[in-house]
Amino acid sequence: MRVVITGNMGYIGPVLIEHLRSVHPGIELIGHDSGYFAHCLTNASCLPEVHLSAQHFGDIRDISPDLFKGIDSVVHLAAISNDPMGNRFEAVTEAINFQASRRVAELARNHGARSFVFASSCSMYGSAEGGPRKEGDPLNPLTAYARSKVAMEEALASMDLGDMVVTALRFATACGMSPRLRLDLVLNDFVACALTSGEITVLSDGSPWRPLIDVKDMCRAIDWAIHRDPDDGGQLVRVNTGSDDWNYQVKDLALAVQQAIPGTSVSINKDAPPDKRSYRVDFELYRRLAPGHQPQVTLDQAIRELKSGLEGMGFADKDFRNSGYMRLKMLESHMRGGRMSDDLRWG
Ligand SMILES: NC(=O)c1ccc[n+]([C@@H]2O[C@H](COP(=O)([O-])OP(=O)(O)OC[C@H]3O[C@@H](n4cnc5c(N)ncnc54)[C@H](O)[C@@H]3O)[C@@H](O)[C@H]2O)c1
Repeated sequence: MRVVITGNMGYIGPVLIEHLRSVHPGIELIGHDSGYFAHCLTNASCLPEVHLSAQHFGDIRDISPDLFKGIDSVVHLAAISNDPMGNRFEAVTEAINFQASRRVAELARNHGARSFVFASSCSMYGSAEGGPRKEGDPLNPLTAYARSKVAMEEALASMDLGDMVVTALRFATACGMSPRLRLDLVLNDFVACALTSGEITVLSDGSPWRPLIDVKDMCRAIDWAIHRDPDDGGQLVRVNTGSDDWNYQVKDLALAVQQAIPGTSVSINKDAPPDKRSYRVDFELYRRLAPGHQPQVTLDQAIRELKSGLEGMGFADKDFRNSGYMRLKMLESHMRGGRMSDDLRWG
């Protein structure tokens, strides 16, 4: 089986490669990435891409149809992947996450891919009062990033899919260790705060709801979606991907980290303006469709793996919120260094 993974050199991609290689030893994996964060390795024993059959460097805005010859599946991870980057590079976010992404899906279809997996996001629920959001509930995307994910899902829904089985995995917020660890994710940030300064500073009042999923469990879901039978849910499925017990309030995450790393203090910004992004999510559909690929990692395990990963790196940078562990800071540093233009193309 031949699978193209776009955006494989980010946070999730290396964990996905490891997962697919171990579960499907004969699988042919081909990476395609522009390499924004390629050098941001964290405690990796080797370059994660050595486990690929081939690595292509390039921008999906110019992706060559040749890449899709003979493919069985495309896992589309490449994106401007969070709100801070989306806010800073709004037009580029639309160009990559929607326009270029739609073309990737069309090329996959044109080349006879059996499946297309789109890394979507629960952030499209935005601000959702009331009960946990189901897939059919109204969307309320509050940011350029969330809007781009909605636009791509709509494009998939209106596209002639041919015979391609399409799954939009609406992921909860990721957390957990990766060979390209990022710290602009709430749980990862809290663990890094606890280890470096002994104090977790919650930037909001701690009340927003934020469903989480460990990166290893995201990879289990992608594996399911690559191989999904269209009888399970239909040719196109949009599915919240995570588990009901991982709907947390931000303050509960801080307290869980405090419990796992004794001596940590937690300061909550009671005067912060309310964070509008707050949503609980219903994961019943995913439970029904993918009983064999349900999340397995516990919150405590995710925290412990982050702790040992960061300790293994000798991580001690108290000012990491201003460092290259934050994706936006890394892009800005490429631009300051004259390596990248403001439309995020290598110069
Ligand atoms: N991390 C999360 O919390 C989360 C949650 C929900 C969904 N997702 C989605 O999962 C996917 C992967 O997330 P991640 O955390 O690994 O993100 P990441 O930012 O760490 O990695 C994205 C990768 O895409 C590449 N890329 C970006 N623009 C590109 C372009 N124009 N051409 C080629 N490559 C390009 C980058 O170089 C990077 O390696 C994204 O689509 C993201 O939106 C992530």
